[in-house]
Amino acid sequence: MDIKLTKKSDAKAQIRFITKKELQKSRYNKTLQKAGFEADSETSCFLYEKGLLFVGVESKQSDEIRAASAVAIKAVKNSNFEKISVNVDKKTLAAVVEGFVLGGYKFEKYKSEPKSKKLKIELVSSKQKELENLLEEALIVANATNFTRDIVNTIPQEINPKTFAELAKKLAKENKLQCDILDKERLQKERCEAMLAVGRASTYSPRLIHLAYKPKNARKKVTLIGKGLTYDSGGLSLKPATSMVTMKMDKAGACAVLGIIKAVSELKLDIEVHVFIGAVENMIGGNAYKPDDVLKSRSGKTIEVRNTDAEGRLVLADVLDYAQDKAKESDYLFDFATLTGACMVALGQYTTGIMGHSSQLKHAIAKAANEAGELTGSLPFNKHLRKLLKSELADICNIASKPYGGAITAGLFLDNFIKEENKQKWLHFDIAGSAYTETPWDVNVYGGTGAGVRMMTRFLQTL
Ligand code: BES
Ligand code: ZN
Ligand code: ZN
Repeated sequence: MDIKLTKKSDAKAQIRFITKKELQKSRYNKTLQKAGFEADSETSCFLYEKGLLFVGVESKQSDEIRAASAVAIKAVKNSNFEKISVNVDKKTLAAVVEGFVLGGYKFEKYKSEPKSKKLKIELVSSKQKELENLLEEALIVANATNFTRDIVNTIPQEINPKTFAELAKKLAKENKLQCDILDKERLQKERCEAMLAVGRASTYSPRLIHLAYKPKNARKKVTLIGKGLTYDSGGLSLKPATSMVTMKMDKAGACAVLGIIKAVSELKLDIEVHVFIGAVENMIGGNAYKPDDVLKSRSGKTIEVRNTDAEGRLVLADVLDYAQDKAKESDYLFDFATLTGACMVALGQYTTGIMGHSSQLKHAIAKAANEAGELTGSLPFNKHLRKLLKSELADICNIASKPYGGAITAGLFLDNFIKEENKQKWLHFDIAGSAYTETPWDVNVYGGTGAGVRMMTRFLQTL
């Protein structure tokens, strides 16, 4: 997709966002009505002969324009037009660009005959020069989101802990980031026994990936941690067949933090960003870790394993501990993980669950997410749920003793590995629902959504 700003366009087709009120006054009202178009949100009508594509919106707010642009781009793809124009201004530009780039995304790596065609899009504005920067920024963020989607969508045949580390290395090279990869031997030296146990039955041993973006005169320092389960079979507490399908997406937290550091480095923000990823494959085998095992985590805390499918928190326990040692004195500590099915039950498939101790920080993130077009909901900790993680045998259990509030008890488990001085700086994002979809919604199409990238980049931009 080729998107550029222009003062005047010679494209033979134009996109027009239209509200119900505007439709009534439109000179095309009759024609559109005959076609059954009522300007409902996320519906469109293409008057091919006139070269006009009408897309219904409830208002001209960013959220509506973003979703409508995603509808528009699909309609354009289904037509024979190769070049199309749309009027933009300062308020709508980013939303239009995101709608086009994200809504027009299609992952066709495994299709023998890819169908995507190259579209030319002209954004028309009299203030073209003033908008150039906004366009560049919006493209960086949208492309980083699609970069995240590409990795999430890549199959476990191709992405395992070893190849994931190579992929991170490649990004580090391209974007001039520092890169350090801990293999099995180094993880043993670091006493990351929880993480190593989860990955033990896999052909590919775990990797801990550390990337850093260090601009001169950084004003803030941010640590991002990602759950990178390149496949989650559930381990010996094996997932049912139907739940296992899509579990290539259990690396989405790791993919999100890669997308975020990519965006931040390309935007050249003066914020130091550290990314830590636990890349592990949870499999079965004679040497698999077991329910009943007790693992000693890097922090020294012992964990009674009662379910090997609650593996993400075990990996994160070690990675969180390592990250807090390596990126000392960070202003913020955020982890992204497809951690629990319970988060989807609590908030629905579209919403990222936010957990942590600082209400202020939770609000700031929710605001950034809202501006960036991502949905979030806060899930509150409490002491009663915390008690459910008690173990008779070890310091803590990896699952709660009661089935309700599973997203929160998972968050509380992670809290055990956050050092006292970082409690107020830490937030946990459960993206189990929001990171992947099999039915399109908003700007999302089948597969990885890139959840986390837009909201976190936005937050960092506003720091
Ligand atoms: N990766 C899953 C969580 C998940 C489920 C992500 C569905 C996306 C879609 C995680 O490792 C897991 O299996 N969690 C268990 C926890 C349970 C055993 C306490 C779950 O949610 O069932
Ligand atoms: Zn699992
Ligand atoms: Zn998992």
